[in-house]
Amino acid sequence: MYHGRIIETGRYLPEFNVSNDDITKLVDTSDEWIYSRTGIKNRRIAKDESVVYMAASAAKNAISKCELDSMNIDMIVVATVSPDYAMPSVACMVQEQLGAENAFCFDVNAACSGFVYGLDIIDQFIKTRKVKNALLIGVEKFSHLLNWEDRDTCVLFGDGAGAVIIEATETEIGIIDTQSRSIGKQFEALVSPLNNNDTPFYNESSEAYITMDGRAVFQFAVTKVSALLKEVFQTQNISADEIDIYVLHQANSRIIEGIAKRLKQPIDKFYMNMESYGNTSAATIPIALDELNRAGELIGKTIALSGFGAGLTYGTAIVKF
Ligand code: UT7
Repeated sequence: MYHGRIIETGRYLPEFNVSNDDITKLVDTSDEWIYSRTGIKNRRIAKDESVVYMAASAAKNAISKCELDSMNIDMIVVATVSPDYAMPSVACMVQEQLGAENAFCFDVNAACSGFVYGLDIIDQFIKTRKVKNALLIGVEKFSHLLNWEDRDTCVLFGDGAGAVIIEATETEIGIIDTQSRSIGKQFEALVSPLNNNDTPFYNESSEAYITMDGRAVFQFAVTKVSALLKEVFQTQNISADEIDIYVLHQANSRIIEGIAKRLKQPIDKFYMNMESYGNTSAATIPIALDELNRAGELIGKTIALSGFGAGLTYGTAIVKF
């Protein structure tokens, strides 16, 4: 049976770096508070880059390494909740940049779970043989959604993009399992409203930014992500020990430590880079995969991926490289 296999990775991170010390000039916080509570020290901010530019750059980075002809890309999925425009989709605009004229393209709104949701969706299209080559991008520009006077949220996020190329394979290597879950009844825990205009008929204007019940999201992430990973291990008849590297959403090092503890796994099996980039939402997992790939750390490994975030949404994939 066909399934998807990640054959190449790429990333784009904006040049402009903002350290915790820089943020202390904006809000009442400290490097000590941010680092000890989250593991974050720096984040990149897309001062000059659009979402489409970051997404297309990450994609070009991946495509250039595997010499894939853009005309052979059948499907482009972009995971994002911070697009430049409400329409068209980022995916359609990336298609134009790549000249991938044969692809069908759409965005997925699953917040920080968007990348694993996208992997799940693409794998289904490959399994039903509708798609041979797909491009999946996770990209966010949360800097344009944040209230930079709100210390609860502005210290946490960064901008960036990661991309993977997925091809159909019949080998044992590739996407072994994917699971996507949602808990809509907890949607209020993490919200980014749209800033609407007034109309001649009703008044809807607002100046609204991201709000988050950090403790609720923290609790949800540690319990649900570890439980879903255990469920997938059981379905696949593998143990947590057989996973070589855990690449989880990079929201908070303490969340990852909590999950490691619940899975009884050593923390050094859990990749972490939030110190450099903060939480880039849907982009954290593909950026981490590309860093591992560049370091030659992916080949031959079995990797567990997990995203979690607004919705609330969460999802997991087991991938063999
Ligand atoms: O990617 C989407 C998913 N999002 C997440 O996974 C985020 C999950 N949640 C978290 O990572 C953590 O809950 C936070 C990092 C957001 C917050 O950490 P916390 O340990 O849960 O802190 P808290 O919200 O309970 O706040 C503790 C204290 C409060 O002061 P009081 O009430 O104890 O006096 C806050 O007002 O820390 C204060 N505080 C800050 N102090 C300095 C909140 N933000 C800051 C700040 N600097 N930036």
